[in-house]
Amino acid sequence: MYRSNTNGELRISDVNKEVTLSGWVQKSRDKGFMIWVDLRDRYGITQLIFDEARTESSVMELAKSLGREFVIQVKGTVIERESKNSNIPTGDIEVLVKELTILNAAQLPPFTIEDDTDGGEDIRMKYRYLDIRRNPVKNSLLFRHKVAQQVRNYLSNLDFCEVETPYLIKSTPEGARDFVVPSRMNPGQFYALPQSPQTFKQLLMVGGMDRYFQIVKCFRDEDLRADRQPEFTQIDCEMAFIEQEDILNVFEGLTRHLLKEIHNIEIEKFPRMTFDEAMRSYGNDKPDIRFGMKFGELNTVAQHKDFPVFNAAELVVGIAVPGAASYTRKEIDGLIDWVKRPQVGASGMVYVKCEGNGQYKSSVDKFYDQEDLAKWAEVTGAKEGDLILVLSGPANKTRGQLSALRMELGNRMGLRKPDEFAPLWVIDFPLLEWDEESERFHAMHHPFTSPKPEDMHLLDTDPGKVRANAYDLVLNGNEIGGGSIRIHDKEMQALMFKHLGFTPEQAQDQFGFLMNAFQYGAPPHGGLAFGLDRLVAILGGQETIRDFIAFPKNNSGRDVMIDAPATIDNVQLQELSLALAKK
Ligand code: AMO
Repeated sequence: MYRSNTNGELRISDVNKEVTLSGWVQKSRDKGFMIWVDLRDRYGITQLIFDEARTESSVMELAKSLGREFVIQVKGTVIERESKNSNIPTGDIEVLVKELTILNAAQLPPFTIEDDTDGGEDIRMKYRYLDIRRNPVKNSLLFRHKVAQQVRNYLSNLDFCEVETPYLIKSTPEGARDFVVPSRMNPGQFYALPQSPQTFKQLLMVGGMDRYFQIVKCFRDEDLRADRQPEFTQIDCEMAFIEQEDILNVFEGLTRHLLKEIHNIEIEKFPRMTFDEAMRSYGNDKPDIRFGMKFGELNTVAQHKDFPVFNAAELVVGIAVPGAASYTRKEIDGLIDWVKRPQVGASGMVYVKCEGNGQYKSSVDKFYDQEDLAKWAEVTGAKEGDLILVLSGPANKTRGQLSALRMELGNRMGLRKPDEFAPLWVIDFPLLEWDEESERFHAMHHPFTSPKPEDMHLLDTDPGKVRANAYDLVLNGNEIGGGSIRIHDKEMQALMFKHLGFTPEQAQDQFGFLMNAFQYGAPPHGGLAFGLDRLVAILGGQETIRDFIAFPKNNSGRDVMIDAPATIDNVQLQELSLALAKK
C-alpha cells in the first residue's frame, strides 16, 4: 500500500494515528538535528518531521539527501504541531517519520513548483507536466472537470443521450480550414477532422435520437487567439421537434444551473438582443453588458453644421465615459493615439467634457455651441462629469472601432469584473454574410441554418437582409455558444446551397448524404454548441482558454512539449502516397 491517506487529509483528530503517505517533496528545511519536509500531492501538503531524537539515524541520513520534487513514501505517526500553520487545512499536525523510501529521485525542475513560479510561459509549456503540479493549473483542470460533470448530469437528467461521432470524416464547411488526414488504404484521398459534429448530430435527429449531446473535440485550422485553440472542446447538442424558444430555454437553464452550482449566483431571465441592436448599441455581436457606455448615434445632431468630417461620414457615433471629464489633455491624447493605432484604425476622435453647471468643453467648440453639445450628451446619456468620445466614418468600420475603444476603457477602468456574470442571448443573426475576398455570400453560421420564414422572399432580391433562426449565447463579452434551427427539407437545403454558390453537382457531391437523409423523414430540429474551454475559462474568471486545457498548443499551433507537428519519414510518406517511391 503506497498510502493510507492523502496529503490534504489529516487533521488534529488524527493525532496518534500511524499513517503512510506518498507524494512529492515541495521543500525541505534542514536544521541538522531536525528536518522538515513539505510533502505534496493533488490534495494538499502535509508537513513531515524527522527528529534526531526520535527518528533512526539511517532515516535521518536519507532525509538529508532529499531534493525538490523527489517522489517519496513515508510511514510515521501524526502528532500535533508546536507552531501551527492556519494557512493550510493540515496546518495543525505533522507526521513524525519512522520510515522513508525514495520511490524516485528527481532532477532539479527548470522552474519552481510554486503558485507564483519563476518560470516563463515557454518553459512551462515545454514542461507542462511540471506546470500541472502547480496549484493554479491543477485547480483549473479540476474546475473544468467539475463544470463538465455538471453539464453531463444536467443534460442526462433532461433525457439527452451522449453519442460519439467519428473524428475521421469528410470536410464540413464551418468557415475555418480543415485539418486533413491522408488515407493509406485509399491513396490520394483524405479524411478531414471535424470542425464540429454538425452533420452527424443532424443525422442522429433523422435517426430518431431526439435529444443528443456530446462533449467532443473539434478541430479548426485557424489563427490562434487567447480564446481559440486549433483543437478545442464543444458541448454539442441537438434536439428534435423543437422551436428556437425551446432551445433557448433548455440551454439558458443549463447555464443558469452552472452559475448556481459553481458560483451560487442566481440569474432570473437572460436578456435577449437582436444582432442589429447589438451592432447598433455596442458595435459588436458579443457585447459585454457588465458595463454601460452604450453607443449614441449622433448623425441627426452632429451633421449639417460646419464640421466637414462629420458631414461626410456615414455614421457619427459616441459613448459617454463615466467620470472621465477630469481626464487631462495628455490622457485624452493618449486615447486618441490608441484609436489611431493600425489595429484599431480610426483617423481621429472628437471629445466633449461635460463639466459642472451644464457646461460643455469640446475639441470642436469652433463648430458646435453649448446647445448642440447638450444634445450629444442627451443622445449618449452623458451626465455631469462624463467625457463623450465620438468617432465617425463608414458605419460598420466605425462601430468596430468604437467597440474596441469601449472594451479597452472597460478593461482600464476595471468595469469588467471577473466575478460578475452577465449572460445575453444575441438572436436574429443574418443568414448570409458578404465575403469581400471571394465576392460571394457565405453562411454566417453554417449552411444548414434555417432562414426566418418571413424573410424568405428576400433571398433572391436582397440576400444580405435575410435573417436566420440563429442565436449566440454571450457571457461577459465572449461568445460561449451558438446554434440555430436547421433546414430539414431537401428542397430548401438544395436552394440554400445554390445561394451559397454551389452547383447542384457540388452540393450533391459534398452533402448528398444529408439531403438524401432528409428524404427519409427528417424531423424539425435544431441545436447549439457551447465552447467548453471558453465557458470554463469565463466561469473561472479568465479569458485565456489555454490555462484550462491540460496540454494546449502555443501561438504557432505547436505542442512544444512533444514537439508537434513534426516531419515524418519517407517510408511513412510513401505508405500514405504522399511521396514518390525511390527508384
Ligand atoms: P460555432 O462555430 O459557433 O458553432 O462553435 C460553437 C462554439 O465553439 C467555440 N469555439 C471555439 N473555442 C475554442 N477555440 C476555437 N477555435 C473555437 N471555435 C469555436 C465558441 C463557439 O460559440 N456546429 C455549430 C453549432 C450548432 O450550430 O449547433 C458550431 O460549431 O464558444
